[in-house]
Amino acid sequence: MTGEELSLARKEYLFPAVFYYFRDPLVVAYAKDQYVWDADGNQYLDFFGGIATVSVGHCNPVVNARVHEQLDRLQHVSAVFTTEPQVALAQKVASLTPHGRLTKFFFTNSGTEANETAMLAAQCYAGASDIVALRYAYHGRSLAAMSVTGQSACRLGGVSAPSVIHAHNAYCYRCPFHLTYPNCDLACARDLENAIQTSTSGRIAALGREAEEIRSALAGISAAVPQPGADGPSVDTLVQQFNDSAQQIQMINPLFSHP
Ligand SMILES: Cc1ncc(COP(=O)(O)O)c(C=O)c1O
Repeated sequence: MTGEELSLARKEYLFPAVFYYFRDPLVVAYAKDQYVWDADGNQYLDFFGGIATVSVGHCNPVVNARVHEQLDRLQHVSAVFTTEPQVALAQKVASLTPHGRLTKFFFTNSGTEANETAMLAAQCYAGASDIVALRYAYHGRSLAAMSVTGQSACRLGGVSAPSVIHAHNAYCYRCPFHLTYPNCDLACARDLENAIQTSTSGRIAALGREAEEIRSALAGISAAVPQPGADGPSVDTLVQQFNDSAQQIQMINPLFSHP
């Protein structure tokens, strides 16, 4: 099939859960290392990397060899059984976490599922249901993940799981309050404080700031902008102030909140 035929077939047969940024979206046929080729044979330098998931290049021979090896040995069993690769990976990841502090892992098939798990774990642990998400965030395509997503284009059907509020991000590059740090007096943190006071029960299960690094906020994968307040009150301290167990939640829930 040509690229055009594939695009038409996709429109006809696939669920319209994903919207495109482009009028003529790329139809990717194959890829190698840093390059992808479309269905019509055009070559592209890939700055996207599968949305930052193909970090060692496309069709990496080392990765592929291990995948083939595993497929030939054991392809699939139910999660109720123990398998060596799963345990070995959990051990390996544990050894890479800061100070070996994180020692429980749940492997998922997607970012959406990871976020669902993080929210559920946080709610169970905190004994609270309220989740503070950030405006303009993207967290996935399930009901709960869409509910914490803060972009209308990604909230199909106006989804809304209960217990989710959206706060402004601490995003100095395009400050939602049109202020400049440090003269802003951390208006974003104060706004978060007010949102928690007025729109939640006062106990927070999770603060949704996916894909961050400790002490520096990455706004999803779209931007890396340092969070203000390292030398003063920050969103972290505010959440802790509102929730005695916030520190413990952060320990089991690194995706959604950081110390
Ligand atoms: C920041 C972020 N969170 C969550 C997701 C959802 O991941 P998935 O598409 O694997 O469910 C994505 C996917 O693009 C993402 O970029």
